[in-house]
Parts: sequence; structure tokens; C-alpha cells
Amino acid sequence: MKLNITVLPGDGIGPEVISQAVKTLNAIALEFDHQFSYKYADVGAVAIDNTGSPLPDETLALCKSSDAVLMGAIGDPKYDQASVRPEQGLLKLRKDLGLFANVRPVQAFDELLDLSPLKKDIIKGVDISIFRELTGGIYFGEKKTTEDGRYSSDLCEYSNTEIERIAHLAFKTARLRGKKVTLIDKANVLETSRLWRKTVTELAKSYPDVTLDFLYVDNAAMQMILNPKQFDVILTENMFGDIISDEASVIGGSIGLLPSASVGEKHALFEPIHGSFPQAKGKGIANPIATILSVALMMEHFGLFDEAELIKDAVVKSLKLGIVTPDLGKAQDNITTEKVGDFIADFISHPTDSNHNFSNIHLGQSTII
Ligand code: IPM
Ligand code: MN
Repeated sequence: MKLNITVLPGDGIGPEVISQAVKTLNAIALEFDHQFSYKYADVGAVAIDNTGSPLPDETLALCKSSDAVLMGAIGDPKYDQASVRPEQGLLKLRKDLGLFANVRPVQAFDELLDLSPLKKDIIKGVDISIFRELTGGIYFGEKKTTEDGRYSSDLCEYSNTEIERIAHLAFKTARLRGKKVTLIDKANVLETSRLWRKTVTELAKSYPDVTLDFLYVDNAAMQMILNPKQFDVILTENMFGDIISDEASVIGGSIGLLPSASVGEKHALFEPIHGSFPQAKGKGIANPIATILSVALMMEHFGLFDEAELIKDAVVKSLKLGIVTPDLGKAQDNITTEKVGDFIADFISHPTDSNHNFSNIHLGQSTII
């Protein structure tokens, strides 16, 4: 398969984790005889530095003309007080590409059960797919601040069609998994949440094989920690999804593991859920796995399921052997972002080789040849 991929490394640790994801893509291309080509562009703080805009027109045009977008991370504290912020670039990109569904899989890897502050028996076997609406709600409603700076408002809006299109995706996915959708809302208070409930209840009639249940977001936040195994597919609006997915990342042991796919009718973008982690920039300690697993989601998006499986196998192998960055392992092992990427690419190139050797990773060569 030929794929034209726009790569947006972004800020902070973004470029470091993106290099490992591209390495992974190259290994997959070689192994499965695909042609992946890359065009790089700026978004976020680096784009403000270079052009004054967090999403330059050329970047948007490039994304629109490509088959997929691979993104690192966005954000830089130096713009915290600025009127033009890096995050605005990401929000505009999501909106202009029509990426209305953000899919965030959350899994507890057996190898990492000890890392989570939650008890093992609570998280073992967790496998959740979060469907977060991404182009509506309070993120995109009218924003106001009066001139004297003493009053502000953010409007939360949804239309039934915005709800329906992501709900269909959530139900279709549930059909292939545990056949359960949990709608997270605040229907006891919010008018938009009542519209979500009504619309989703109606639509659920076309999926009689899928069970639908409802949770208020405050209760859902508690249930995510008390009994996360009750969840299969979670469907929710933009801001609730943002918050619940960060909370859910605790189950996996590190936010450095969670990938995401943002999809719309025409475009798709793949990015880790973590931020730009500016304190870690250039130190080689950033975990590349979330971005590498985002590449696996990209493969699935294009129907390349063997490729996705192989990437996931490589990740699991790296976890098993402890070839991991300090957020998952012992800091004194000194395994860098790059070494994790090298190991994963190497495993992809030699998947049947049983000699993947931990000691050689320090020599920059993880396989005994
Ligand atoms: C995310 C991030 C973004 C969001 C920020 C950077 C705007 O937290 O992708 O979850 O809130 O959507
Ligand atoms: Mn977030």
C-alpha cells in the first residue's frame, strides 16, 4: 500500500517520540512491502516561533492532501500567558479536518500491573475503548470575556447530527468487542447531555445486540477507579472525554502508553494522548510507546491488521524484556527513547528471532545476528 503521511512533530518531546514512530513505520514498510512517504510540517509553539501562527496554512493544506497525519505533541509554557497559544493550532486542525471522533483505547498490560497505583485485581484484564467527541461542545462554543476582564463565558453546544455520527462509530466498534456502550454525561444538569441521552437511546434501537447504559460523569470518574472492568466502549462528549481518558491512563501505569486515533469522514490523525512534557525535552527519557501504538492504530485504520498486530507484539516484547524508558522501568537502566524505538523496529524486522537480547540494547543492537 502507498501512503502519504504528513508528520507534525510539534513541541517538547514531540520530535523525539515521532522519530521512533517513523522508525517503526519504516520497519513495517520494509517487512510488508509498503511505500510510506513523509512530509514534515510545523504545528504548535514551533509554528508560532517560525510563522506567528500555531497552524500555518501550508501545514493545514499538507494535512488535507495526505492520507494520514501523524502528530507528536503540542504546548510550550513560554506561551502560557500569550493570546495566541499552541493548543489553538491543534483545535483548529481537528476542526478543519473534521476529526469528530477521537478513539482512545485503554488497556492494562499484564507486564505493567505493578506500576499502576491501583490494585492489580481491579485493573487486570481492563480493555476499554473511549470514543470522545472532538469537534464540538464547550471547546468550540462561543467564548467571551468582557473588556474589563471581569466576566467570561464558554458556550457548550451540540446538535443531534454531531452526536449521531460518533455514536454510530461507538456502536459499530462495540459490536466487534464486548457489545456494551456506556454513555457518560451529566444529564441531571445539562441540556446538551439530555440531547445526548435522547439521541443515543433512539439510535441504540438499530443495534439490538449492543447493551447501552448511562453514567453521570461524576459517578463515572469514581467507577473508573473502583471497577474499570465494567467498561467496554465509552461514548462521551468532548470535555468529559478529555478528563476521563487522562484518568483512565492511570490503569495502564503510565500516560506514556496511550495512543489515539482521531477520525472524520475524509481525514485521520494519529497522536499520543500525552502532552509535550517540556521538562523532558532532549533528555531521551520520553516514552515513545504511545506514539508507536498510534502508528498501530493508523495501520488498523487502513485495514493493515497484521501490521498493527506486529507493532503491538513488538511493544509487548519490549515491556516483557524491560526495554523501556524510566517511567516504566528503573532509571539506572538508562534506556533511552531512541533505544526503545530501535528495539521495536528491530523486532519488527526480525519477528521470529528468539534472540532479542536485553544486554545488547546498550550496544544499540537488540538482536544477536
Ligand atoms: C488532548 C489535549 C488537548 C485537549 C489540549 C492540548 C488542547 O489535552 O488531546 O487530550 O484538551 O483536547
Ligand atoms: Mn487531554
